Amino acid sequence: MGQIEPPDGQTIETLADGLAESLRSQGRLTDPAWERALREVRRDLFAPPRAWAKPDNSQAGGPIDRDTAPQEWWNAVYSDASLVIQADDGAGDPASGIGMITSSLSAPGVVIEFLELLAPNPGDRVLDVGTASGWTAALLSWRVGQAGVTSIEVDGQVAAQASANLKTAGFAPHLVVGDGTEGCAERAPFERIHVTAGVSAIPLSWVEQARPGGVIVMPWQPHGGLGHKLRLEVTSGSTAVGSFHGPAAYMMLRSQRHGSTWNPHHFEEADHSETTIDPTILATADQGADLVFAALAPQIGWHASIDEDTYSLLLFEPDNPNGSWAACDKESGTDTYQVAQYGERRLWDELSDAYLEWVAFGSPHYERFGLTVGPEGTHLWLDHPNGPSWKIPVSSSVLGDH
Ligand SMILES: C[S@@+](CC[C@H](N)C(=O)[O-])C[C@H]1O[C@@H](n2cnc3c(N)ncnc32)[C@H](O)[C@@H]1O
Repeated sequence: MGQIEPPDGQTIETLADGLAESLRSQGRLTDPAWERALREVRRDLFAPPRAWAKPDNSQAGGPIDRDTAPQEWWNAVYSDASLVIQADDGAGDPASGIGMITSSLSAPGVVIEFLELLAPNPGDRVLDVGTASGWTAALLSWRVGQAGVTSIEVDGQVAAQASANLKTAGFAPHLVVGDGTEGCAERAPFERIHVTAGVSAIPLSWVEQARPGGVIVMPWQPHGGLGHKLRLEVTSGSTAVGSFHGPAAYMMLRSQRHGSTWNPHHFEEADHSETTIDPTILATADQGADLVFAALAPQIGWHASIDEDTYSLLLFEPDNPNGSWAACDKESGTDTYQVAQYGERRLWDELSDAYLEWVAFGSPHYERFGLTVGPEGTHLWLDHPNGPSWKIPVSSSVLGDH
């Protein structure tokens, strides 16, 4: 595999340069060390010969095949695209675009953003959760030295391929097959913990296994869908304090997956009411509102549907296919909107109340919020850890003792 070179006069250097230049011009690659790493840790050595390539920030995607269409394969590998390496926990075809994506080689842009947030130093001990292809473990090994890197993957088949990829690329970090939510106590303490799977409930083990002053980065996705890049710094006594750095949407940790979608069961028994709160405003509110939703309207999934003159905001419980649901319909030209709700939870009421609470605080932008994680749970706060705060319910807060 390491012998295969790009076709048509291209070289790996020019392809890697193009990728680095593109990320730099977008302001997503600022550290010269990571720029060198992008050039020196060949991404093609971690890409499967057949995959589904999904350009970042796009729903679109397509199959790539190194044998039948090498030019497309090389272009995709050195572009800002994630490559699916496993579907349906190994039961599906990763090149088909069908089924649940259960492992991927992450898109370079978001990989670099997380690595820049992590900011490890040479000689650090780093725990990497979610080995997948092994590319991030290789980048970390390049940066801090492979003796310091421990990478955990829950899936044995994926881990075996990662081990082979790393060997081909000339790296040998410490690899573990297991549940990364437990961390790796025997290799602790860590100066840095790097998580590349979506997290709703933050494992306390990570905080406990990081040194005071250590940094933990992760995609915190409290609703199971789109979430936030979270950077925590460990203080002492199993507590970490952190801030948010833009949106993030990774596949969830295996034990924290949410599978359901909007399912308006028992439609005839739903409660109907009217509201003057415009559902489009909730759906497009600043990410600061989304953080308050995580505390006051937890575990509510949503999607918007637009049908001719009607916009519908559809709400559901992402971890409960037969759970509560709600819909708020906005017909153009009206200023009151129709709400239908069914189930133990009144999802529209929860979400709109949370929205009004956020408005009552002056609609603060999400950069003003932070998170404290510790034995007492997870708390979202405004402006300062001792400022106004909201406890995040257990389902999307801390996994561990509290
Ligand atoms: C988006 S991929 C990570 C991308 C990877 N860092 C790379 O560069 O190729 C997420 C990976 O996390 C793994 N994963 C999910 N839950 C896990 C868990 N509890 N512990 C360890 N790995 C887990 C998945 O199997 C998947 O391979």
